[in-house]
Amino acid sequence: MLNDFNIIGDHRGSLISIESKIDIPFEIKRIYYIFGNKNNVRRGFHAHKNLQQVLIAVSGSCKILLDNGQSKEEILLDSPQKSLLIQNFVWREMFDFSANCVLLVLASEHYDEKDYIRDYNQFLDLCKQK
Ligand code: TYD
Repeated sequence: MLNDFNIIGDHRGSLISIESKIDIPFEIKRIYYIFGNKNNVRRGFHAHKNLQQVLIAVSGSCKILLDNGQSKEEILLDSPQKSLLIQNFVWREMFDFSANCVLLVLASEHYDEKDYIRDYNQFLDLCKQK
């Protein structure tokens, strides 16, 4: 789900504040960011059993493919104001990173490799069982 954060702006510039369970629907347990992306790199290729994440291109732009097992959509993140909530059981791929892209990710859980679904066919099977 794509949303716009509220910008607090004045003559000095802009500021966005993000508070757990107010501006995003979960408690933030982890933050990471992806940057220095090499040309034509595509990353992600997984879904999560439990994890929810909010993605923000705080600099530059990138595209996100979202696939819930039934339909696919492509989202352009090209503003620090845009936030993309990705729920569990959504396959995601990130691509078309601009050279200056810094993709900030706010995550609802600590890193847990067991929460990943990295096989697309297994992802489709799990979606059908839901
Ligand atoms: P990976 O999940 O492959 O990144 P992407 O989804 O962007 O393609 O993660 C790359 C490596 O970083 C992998 O070895 C797992 C590790 N990692 C952590 O240790 N902690 C984290 O919070 C994340 C997201 C990844």
